[in-house]
Amino acid sequence: MLMDVAAESVIILRGEDGALRAFANVCRHRGSRLCSAESGHGKDLVCPYHGWTYGLDGSLRSARHMPPGFDAAAHALKQVHISVIEGLVFISFAAEPLGLSHVHATLRSCYGPYGWAQARVAHRERYAIAANWKLAVENYLECYHCAPSHPEYSRLHALEQPAPRIEALNRRMRERSLALGIDIPEHNHWVGSETGEEAVYGFRYALYDGVATGSADGALVAPLMGRFAAADGGATSVHLGPASFLLAYPDHGVIYRFIAETAARCALEVIWLVRGDAREGVDYDRERLTWLWRVTSEADKRIIEQNQLGVASRYYEPGPYAPMEHNTRRYVAWYLREIS
Ligand code: FES
Ligand SMILES: [Fe+2]
Repeated sequence: MLMDVAAESVIILRGEDGALRAFANVCRHRGSRLCSAESGHGKDLVCPYHGWTYGLDGSLRSARHMPPGFDAAAHALKQVHISVIEGLVFISFAAEPLGLSHVHATLRSCYGPYGWAQARVAHRERYAIAANWKLAVENYLECYHCAPSHPEYSRLHALEQPAPRIEALNRRMRERSLALGIDIPEHNHWVGSETGEEAVYGFRYALYDGVATGSADGALVAPLMGRFAAADGGATSVHLGPASFLLAYPDHGVIYRFIAETAARCALEVIWLVRGDAREGVDYDRERLTWLWRVTSEADKRIIEQNQLGVASRYYEPGPYAPMEHNTRRYVAWYLREIS
């Protein structure tokens, strides 16, 4: 499959040896993009321009009419760092990528109980947003806007409650989880590149009493995942690096990827996960599964775009963050440190 970020395009593929690899989607001859289809199958990669042909391991297999002495081995596709953790694929463009040991520990303890490594993708949706990507991320990071902007979400998730009230609800959630034999510790490793590690931050929060998952009526919409024998009335969230956010319910998972495009445009990709053996139309209905985060993401797109229009005004002056926006404040401070 292809993954595009700003001007870069990456080919992620599984070779005949079963290994996942990532390559820059740039031909080693004159630089054409090799792949344009978002996904596909094949035995090799043939450049559409002059026909150079690469193996699935990135090696250059043939280059038409090149002179004797041409060194094919020196013209393999450029590899991009790739790692797989709990079924999630991570790539890095850095020459020396940040470490992922905190990420690994957080994902294992947060999503191991949900069996994410055995999950499969049930649906993907991409939202084009006419706003800078950082405004979109700021919006994702706080639930101060949930009550006015997301009535569907706010009926179900206690995250829209200010600190003292949500703490009591979270205590009850933790008791229910422990009764199911599920003990997910809170992780707060939101560090920075000066430690050599990718930033990651995990936390759990309660759903309201009687709510099992993020769905129209709070009832389960897919088979329970992993070690969950019943719903625990909680959700598990992980913030990962600058633009990736994960959310697990006992019956499905949701991944949010914010994709920077230009200074004034970004995209949000939302990916829904279900248990690996769940069958569409039998074990779950795609419309019911995806309803909540579709209506919520459509609302977010609207409010982020309105926000972008407002901050472009000569009259815009940043106002103070509310206490419920603590994650946004932390993120902005981290981002400024990272780029300084
Ligand atoms: S640019 Fe790919 S073969 Fe020439
Ligand atoms: Fe939102």
